[in-house]
Amino acid sequence: MRASVLVTRASFPDIVDRLRANFDVTDNPEDTIWTQPELIARLQGKVGAMTAGSDRIDATLLDACPQLKAVCNIGVGYNNVDVEACTARGVLVTNTPDVLTDTTADFGFALMMATARRITESEHFLRAGEWTKTGRYDMFVGSDVHGSTLGILGMGRIGQAIARRGAFGFGMRVIYHNRSQLAPDVEEGCRARYVDKETLLRESDHLIVVVPYSASSNHAIGTAELKQMKSSATLTNIARGGVVDDAALAVALNEGSIAAAGLDVFEGEPVVCPALLAQKNVVLTPHIGSASVSTRRAMAALCADNLIAALGHGASAGKPPTPVNPQVLTRPTATA
Ligand code: DGY
Repeated sequence: MRASVLVTRASFPDIVDRLRANFDVTDNPEDTIWTQPELIARLQGKVGAMTAGSDRIDATLLDACPQLKAVCNIGVGYNNVDVEACTARGVLVTNTPDVLTDTTADFGFALMMATARRITESEHFLRAGEWTKTGRYDMFVGSDVHGSTLGILGMGRIGQAIARRGAFGFGMRVIYHNRSQLAPDVEEGCRARYVDKETLLRESDHLIVVVPYSASSNHAIGTAELKQMKSSATLTNIARGGVVDDAALAVALNEGSIAAAGLDVFEGEPVVCPALLAQKNVVLTPHIGSASVSTRRAMAALCADNLIAALGHGASAGKPPTPVNPQVLTRPTATA
């Protein structure tokens, strides 16, 4: 009997077809967002799932779906998955790192530049027909990116790719803070200097947040941190909603304790803090950091490769390329 798998969100049809070659597939081409009880109902009898950030995979779901063997999540981040609960039940978790690094770094840099140079704010002004006089000396003056200090909170692969763009492309001085300092050759490769968090907040002209979400990074940037930043500084969050305290940020933007913010991720997304929506000095995008055609395809393809291999099919049977909890693979139950 063929194994059954669930694809929880709409995906590229040819990639879903690759799954169909190996499994009975239930997919979701209408891209309905299921509640957890709906997800649990659809997972009955499924041994694997291709999931996304909108799916909460926790102990409640796992206990209700004891036949589940592999949760293959699209995205480098997997804070929607309780990895510990999965590991305890022998459920393999995979993610899609690396294939999105440069695309997400490009986007983070673009969002930071749009924020610094007030691009969307000025576009709204133009579209609203408010541009009636040319050349006013202070019209939409922003802050320079080239030659300024770029601060990066979270120096994983995406943080390093942003650092290289800043240092080599824009002549920026790059400082970073991370759980641990990078090896000297890695620092040298992105011309970045490790500093403590206070120094990072105090000295950055443009601070980009790229740290993964966890209980310890919740509200890593809140009222106290915003107060330590320069009043001319910008803050860009491409990490996860919740790493920045959105309500505190709206207050800081309104009071001018920082100049502007660029946000691609939000606490409680797709709902956005109304106070942020009311601010002009914030550029808002709907979690599209990795959204180029080729990268989204690469993420879906890697996710499918993981699912196929995790369930014992294909050339890499039993060896999914990017496991999050590889210790599960040494247990005999991961194949179907
Ligand atoms: C990621 O890869 O984590 C992106 O944010 C998409 O969820």
